[in-house]
Amino acid sequence: MKNIVVFASGSGSNFQSIIDASHNGDLNANIAGLICNKNGIHALERASKHGIPSIIISEKNFTSHDAYCAVLLKHLQLWKADLLVLAGFLQKIHREIINAFPDRILNIHPALLPKFGGKGFYGSTVHQAVIDAKEKQSGCTVHLVNEEYDKGRILAQSIVPVFQSDTASELAKRVLAEEHKLYPKVIQHYLETLNS
Ligand code: GRF
Repeated sequence: MKNIVVFASGSGSNFQSIIDASHNGDLNANIAGLICNKNGIHALERASKHGIPSIIISEKNFTSHDAYCAVLLKHLQLWKADLLVLAGFLQKIHREIINAFPDRILNIHPALLPKFGGKGFYGSTVHQAVIDAKEKQSGCTVHLVNEEYDKGRILAQSIVPVFQSDTASELAKRVLAEEHKLYPKVIQHYLETLNS
């Protein structure tokens, strides 16, 4: 069975959907660990509730970029990570990590990339931009991670309608419900394509 390591910075509702999928058999993977960049977030409680090892690694606590990457890589090796799954991780993934896991890092973005992506497009900013642009539809995108924010190869998307009366939080809720369905499916499908 392949080992996945999840990265989260917030509530971790996508992390929860991955845990649930692994419990009900929709996702055939071992969730080997959770990496967070800050303390006190709900994702950490979810990990502890389900007996998933977790660690907080915050770049600002390191004196150098190299030292930070070395500690991250050490944990990924310790947990024998086959695939890294970003689930609301608000910290750039550095080249060292991308090079160590080529085509082995997935992310989910709460809009239909390539629109409404890139640096600064996270949280309600994304949904407000979609509403301001008077888009008729939005959705979520699962993509591979490369060195440019939200620019890696798109693996799958799911679409939701945008209503004229929508607030950013209403749209976020609708998109998030789709994320929870899409991400575990795409992770499972992607794992099946990996040889080793
Ligand atoms: C999601 O909207 C995801 O698309 C984005 O960050 C959010 C994370 O939400 N990358 P959660 O922490 O999984 O609830």
